[in-house]
Amino acid sequence: AIQTTFLMVKPDGVKRQLVGEIVDRFERKGFELKGAKLIQITEELAKKHYAEHAERPFFGELVEFITSGPVFAMVWEGENVISVARLMMGATNPAESAPGTIRGDFSTTLSHNVIHGSDSLASAEREIGLFFNENELV
Ligand code: CMP
Repeated sequence: AIQTTFLMVKPDGVKRQLVGEIVDRFERKGFELKGAKLIQITEELAKKHYAEHAERPFFGELVEFITSGPVFAMVWEGENVISVARLMMGATNPAESAPGTIRGDFSTTLSHNVIHGSDSLASAEREIGLFFNENELV
């Protein structure tokens, strides 16, 4: 089915100038960019975005990292884009992310792992709503 998903280059990826490389991979795959912006996330937005991890011991670290510099937030559309984008991102744990995936090619740490992608239809809808207004999407 045609889906939309929320993807975000994290502060480490922006600092390392990987935005173009990452956009390029999803474009070449055949997905369609529906919206994008470079933004500095507020602490309030970070806490909402990561609400499901609120009780985790690393929650503070997560919020601190994602607000440590600008992120590149995107909405992408395409056939099964939610799960396919996650395949292209690779596993969260860099010890398990395969070469050829974004994390497999560009990250060595669990927390600084270059990219975020929604993991389900419900989280895609929620995260797009948190980061984008209707008039920012084509
Ligand atoms: P992501 O899946 O985008 O969202 C949750 C993030 O939590 C995940 O990426 C990791 O970067 C991060 N994370 C998961 N486990 C840990 C951990 N043990 N310590 C620090 N960060 C973690």
